Amino acid sequence: MREEALPEEEVMRILEEMRSKDLSYGRFFSTMCTLPHPIAVRAHQMFLETNLGDPGLFPGVAEIEARTVRMLGELLGCPDAVGYISTGGTESNIQAIRAARNEAGIKDANIVVPASAHFSFDKIGDLLCLEVRKAELDESLRVDLESVRRLVDERTVALVGIAGTTEFGQVDPIGDLAALALQRKIHLHVDAAFGGFVLPFLDGEWAWDFRVKGVSSITIDPHKMGLATIPAGGLLFRGQDCMSALETETYYLTKARQASLTGTRSGAAAAATYAVMMHLGQKGFRETVGYCMELTRHLVTGAKQIGIEPFVEPVMNVVTLKVPDPAGVREELMRRDWHVSMTREPHRALRLILMRHMTHENVDLFLRDLGDICTKSG
Ligand SMILES: Cc1ncc(COP(=O)(O)O)c(C=O)c1O
Repeated sequence: MREEALPEEEVMRILEEMRSKDLSYGRFFSTMCTLPHPIAVRAHQMFLETNLGDPGLFPGVAEIEARTVRMLGELLGCPDAVGYISTGGTESNIQAIRAARNEAGIKDANIVVPASAHFSFDKIGDLLCLEVRKAELDESLRVDLESVRRLVDERTVALVGIAGTTEFGQVDPIGDLAALALQRKIHLHVDAAFGGFVLPFLDGEWAWDFRVKGVSSITIDPHKMGLATIPAGGLLFRGQDCMSALETETYYLTKARQASLTGTRSGAAAAATYAVMMHLGQKGFRETVGYCMELTRHLVTGAKQIGIEPFVEPVMNVVTLKVPDPAGVREELMRRDWHVSMTREPHRALRLILMRHMTHENVDLFLRDLGDICTKSG
């Protein structure tokens, strides 16, 4: 650190220079985050210095968080669900599994997750000293129930189902997992970090949330399809008992007990989440999801026209494409300033997320480049 002060304008100049190196969302197909809604930015700025870790000092933002949790609970079929606004899907998943483990009180425990689970579950295994057992997927890349059944034993403290897998956007058979969880008296956590703000607004009925008896907790991220500012995650439990299994005494704060993972935590993202949910309402989210799904169909139709098939038919706004050499094609796309990612082996494909920031025009330009690259390489 410098000894002498640097004038504010000089510091700002350095920051602006660095900021100009950041890429902008317009050509991102690889991210599950997007530009926050303008009202989220306003709300975020308004609550910048608030600390939800000490709610007695900030009762206003604490009430906003409580109202947000209630709205999320309503959206997920359980208005009385309890929870909090976390920093994102990783924290929510950690906390859900930690609660399940604490509640079960079993030593040398394990959890059973789909092979498609987000890498946050590998961190969880490490952090909580749990064995993470990975169940196989069926041909539609949803978890195979028989494989889950085989992996469960008397030390299993949680099953995990995913509603919107990171790589393929698939929805696991949550009803079947829930039946197994109820039969074996095991916690079922649903990771809907991405799908939580998509599935409720798609046409058709999806049984995946608290309406399914046996679902104990859900991760749902406002900073993905919820259009809130980063870092906004959501963690909900069906009942207080499970959430209480996370509590520690705080001894110097305004609230005697705390269930969140972090101590000090910003109220800004909670306010941003609240603002977007209130402002858009279900109607606004239906329009947003409708727009992303329209782009998804446009991309898939265009890809098929140039001879490229999807790896699986998309359920939500996550598209995977079968191309001859995914790594080579991706490299060439990146060279042309398109930001795309790839799925893991053994299901290697090009992966594209159609978020709110994407436009029809850019999808068309992308398809033109993709067709050109594949023709040259094929
Ligand atoms: C299904 C799923 N769970 C968890 C996460 C982790 O979320 P975060 O990056 O907000 O910690 C992601 C991230 O993409 C995800 O897709």
